[in-house]
Amino acid sequence: MNEELEKYVREHSDPEGDYLYRLYRATNIYLLHGRMASGHLQGRLLKMIVRMIRPKNILEVGTFSGYSAICLAEGLDEGGKVYTFEINDEQEDFTRPWIEGSHLADKIEFIIGDAIQEAPKLGVVFDMAFIDGDKRTYIETYEMAMKVVRKGGFILADNTLWDGHVTDPAYDKDQQTIGIRRFNDYIANDKRAEKVILPLRDGLTLIRIK
Ligand SMILES: C[S@@+](CC[C@H](N)C(=O)[O-])C[C@H]1O[C@@H](n2cnc3c(N)ncnc32)[C@H](O)[C@@H]1O
Repeated sequence: MNEELEKYVREHSDPEGDYLYRLYRATNIYLLHGRMASGHLQGRLLKMIVRMIRPKNILEVGTFSGYSAICLAEGLDEGGKVYTFEINDEQEDFTRPWIEGSHLADKIEFIIGDAIQEAPKLGVVFDMAFIDGDKRTYIETYEMAMKVVRKGGFILADNTLWDGHVTDPAYDKDQQTIGIRRFNDYIANDKRAEKVILPLRDGLTLIRIK
């Protein structure tokens, strides 16, 4: 999408609100690779998907600054919870105050640790997972999610078009591109799941466990 059209789409969708606007700005000012945060459009989409699926428990792999965790929590009904994992403990000082300062703090469990190892230990049955961690380990993350998300539940995987690199031979040796391509092939052939790639932003794959 060109910038003008993207602006038009943003202006004709719900606003992200003041708190998320400030979080996105702070993310881009104070953190390296700030554009990893979901941002306005994807944030509204995540909230809408949660509204549609109405999950009770959501697993997020990759909290970063907390932007997407807050958007997921926005869509939850009363009693719902987002369990969000961040492997980089240096992220905690920035992210925890933003999560705890939001009006959705009681719906978000922010956990420092490797989701692949730690999420199954929670003993929670999830209705939905949002995979947004290390692109090189998407298949392992997906297999973990398949164990903790219930049958009929949903798994969303972010960045599955990887800036278009998935089809660009110039990125044949790039490890993250290789990881995403392997993941996309793996999902396409996985008979346990229904799947579709939304070409929004960096690509978002929607997966339903049969
Ligand atoms: C793209 S950012 C997440 C962005 C955030 N979900 C959002 O949309 O606003 C990816 C984050 O995943 C974290 N990460 C990578 N592998 C992980 C794992 N196995 N468990 C938990 N966090 C992980 C990274 O440290 C990084 O902060």
